[in-house]
Amino acid sequence: MAGPKATMWRLEPHSRGKHHILRRYVQAWLPIMTSSHGRVVLVDGFAGPGRYLGGEEGSPLILLKAYLEHRYRNHMTSEIVYLFIDDRADRVEHLRKEIGILELPANVQVDIQHGTYQDLFRRRLDALQESGQRLAPTFAFIDPFGYSDAPMDLTGLFLQFQRCEVLIYIPLPFVARFLDRDGQETALNALFGTNRWREGIPLSWDQRLTFLHDLFRDQLRSSGCTYVRSFEIRSGAARGYHLFFGTTSLRGLEKMKEAMWSLDPLTGQQFGDSTNGDQLVLFQAEPDTTPLLNALKEQFSNHEFSIEAAERLTLTDTPFATGHLRNRTLAPAERRGELEAITARSRVRTYAPGTRLRFRA
Ligand SMILES: C[S@@+](CC[C@H](N)C(=O)[O-])C[C@H]1O[C@@H](n2cnc3c(N)ncnc32)[C@H](O)[C@@H]1O
Repeated sequence: MAGPKATMWRLEPHSRGKHHILRRYVQAWLPIMTSSHGRVVLVDGFAGPGRYLGGEEGSPLILLKAYLEHRYRNHMTSEIVYLFIDDRADRVEHLRKEIGILELPANVQVDIQHGTYQDLFRRRLDALQESGQRLAPTFAFIDPFGYSDAPMDLTGLFLQFQRCEVLIYIPLPFVARFLDRDGQETALNALFGTNRWREGIPLSWDQRLTFLHDLFRDQLRSSGCTYVRSFEIRSGAARGYHLFFGTTSLRGLEKMKEAMWSLDPLTGQQFGDSTNGDQLVLFQAEPDTTPLLNALKEQFSNHEFSIEAAERLTLTDTPFATGHLRNRTLAPAERRGELEAITARSRVRTYAPGTRLRFRA
């Protein structure tokens, strides 16, 4: 997957989905991280020229504006460090121009590097490791054209640092297509950090996609992410392109799920380029939370449980966000007589911190 030759290219509709999630997540991440850290870092390892042919902003500008145009910017006085990397000199030059016309406050530093993500980022992490220094909380966006340049071992090295998170775009159908082609072995071993991708070769197309998705998710988990969540970006009829998010923070997982649900209010798991992202956000769809109720019943049976335990289960074991729990799931179950509160409450069907509940047998 060579990508376009020209410096800039047209924004493909499905990339709007990618950008929506990136913007929403970083808008939520910044106030959380800056409230307890004097310095935070945002890395765009495959930054591109910063703008598309139609004038739309690319990921580096989206990351910068998530801070510059944040409504709580005045409360976020920490040092905000951006590292943008691209291996094409013309794109780096274009990005420098785009950023050169922005008015950056003194607490914002932008470092634009020409080179490959694999080399530059690895050298930075190696230097930090050797010097025994800690990395400030860092969010890395990894958005290659293909799959050869984002090795799992580098992601793993990065995730060894505390409070570091990744959002990686992987064109899985493209990977699946090349699975049995000669000469792909090194790239595929590097992408997955294992040669187990070979087990996908005898599978049918759909099974292959699912297998590769699950393998990538599991490898990301074993690289150091406690929580991994994926989101499908559909391009026309093509299925299987995925954004993978990895974090060690439950709060990070919660914020990412909120970003995903804001793009897909029905399932929180996919975006199709036939749908306009902005309209979708305004469209008030109601998700079916029956699977969440079933997961809660299965986990807690008729034992007592806390609202905090229910929130945690919602986040870690289901596709749902905590915003689906109280009014959409617990309150209707209580109204139907399936659930009772053990703790005394001042108002019915409210679930303040510390509330204890039980499903009726
Ligand atoms: C998919 S585009 C990035 C788009 C950008 N993230 C956005 O959303 O606006 C991938 C970019 O990575 C650059 N690139 C390709 N291989 C690279 C590598 N090994 N290291 C760094 N950049 C690379 C390409 O020149 C291209 O600009």
